[in-house]
Amino acid sequence: MNIGGIEVANPLCLAPLAGITTLPVREFFSSHGASLTHTEMISCAGLIRDNPKTFDMLEVSENEAPLVVQLFANDAGVLVLGAEVARKVCRKFSAFGVNMACPMPKITRNGSGAALLKKPELAREMVRGLKSLGLPVWVKIRRLEDDSDTMKFTGMLIESGADNVCIHGRTSAQRYEGLADRGIISLAASEFPGFISASGDVREVSDIREYLGMGCVAVMVARGAFSNPFIFEEYGGKFRGRDEKLEELVNFSCRAVEISGEHKALVLMKRFAGSILRFEHGSAELRRLAMMSTSLEEIIDILQRRQ
Ligand SMILES: Cc1cc2nc3c(=O)[nH]c(=O)nc-3n(C[C@H](O)[C@H](O)[C@H](O)COP(=O)(O)O)c2cc1C
Repeated sequence: MNIGGIEVANPLCLAPLAGITTLPVREFFSSHGASLTHTEMISCAGLIRDNPKTFDMLEVSENEAPLVVQLFANDAGVLVLGAEVARKVCRKFSAFGVNMACPMPKITRNGSGAALLKKPELAREMVRGLKSLGLPVWVKIRRLEDDSDTMKFTGMLIESGADNVCIHGRTSAQRYEGLADRGIISLAASEFPGFISASGDVREVSDIREYLGMGCVAVMVARGAFSNPFIFEEYGGKFRGRDEKLEELVNFSCRAVEISGEHKALVLMKRFAGSILRFEHGSAELRRLAMMSTSLEEIIDILQRRQ
C-alpha cells in the first residue's frame, strides 16, 4: 500500500520519539511489524552547523523499514538547508517529516515545534520549500483548541503540498497529559481522505482499529510501543509467549549495546521492562527492582524471574 507517497506493508508506524527512536529501536520495531519508523526530531540548525551529535541522529541501517527523517526549525530557509544536508548524508530516507507538534518550551521558545501552529504562513512556506526537494513531506501537528482552526491548518498544509498530516489529538497545552481527542481526527480523516494519520493513546490493537475505522491512512504507535512492543505483530495476528518476548528483547539489548553502548541499552530495557511484567500478578516489586537495576545482566535476571 502507498501512504503519503511511501510504499509500506501495513498502516502501522512507529511514531517519532525524541531520545528513543534511535537506530536499534527502529531496527527492533522494523523487524517486529512496524511498516515505517521515524527518526527522533532533528535540529536543522544543528545539521547546518555541523554539530556531530545532530549528525549521529542520521545514522541508519539496511535492516530498517522505510523511515521518515523528522526535522525541526523556526525558519523555512533553515529547514530546507537542513533537509538537503540530511538527504546528502543518507539516501535511505523515504520522506521529510516536519515537527509542528513538540510542546516543550526549549523548542517552542525559539519558534519551532508547536509554536508553528500559530504561524500558518511560515508553516506553508516550510511545506512548499521542502516539497521542492522532491521527497514526500509528512507533517506532525497537534490539535488546536478550536476544531475549526485544526481543520483550517490541516487543509492549508495539504494544499501546500503535504503528503501526510499526522494529528496528535492533544493540544500543545496538554503536553502528554489527559486523553487525546479522537473526534477531531475522525473529522479531519473524513474531510481530507487519504491524508490523515492518527496519534494519541494508541495502547491496544483496538485503538489502532478505531483510528483506521475512522478513515485514517496510518496510525502512529508512540508510548504504547514500550508498554507493548509486540503490538504491531499482534495487529497482524501473531502472538508470542512471555519467554519468547523476553528472548526478543534480550536480543534487542545486545544490538543496542553494539550500536549505542551499555548505558543507553539499559535505559531502553527499563522502558521495555513493564511490557514483560505487565500482566503478572504481584509484579510491582520486580518492576521496582528492574527500574533500579544498574546493568543489563541484572535487569535481564530480574525479568527472567517469575512471582
Ligand atoms: C518521550 C517522548 C518523545 C517524543 N518525541 C517526539 C518527537 O521527537 N517528534 C514528534 O513529532 N513527537 C514526539 N512525541 C510525541 C509522540 O510521537 C506521540 O505523538 C505522543 O506521544 C502521543 O501518542 P501516545 O499518547 O500514544 O503516546 C514524543 C512523545 C514522547 C512521550
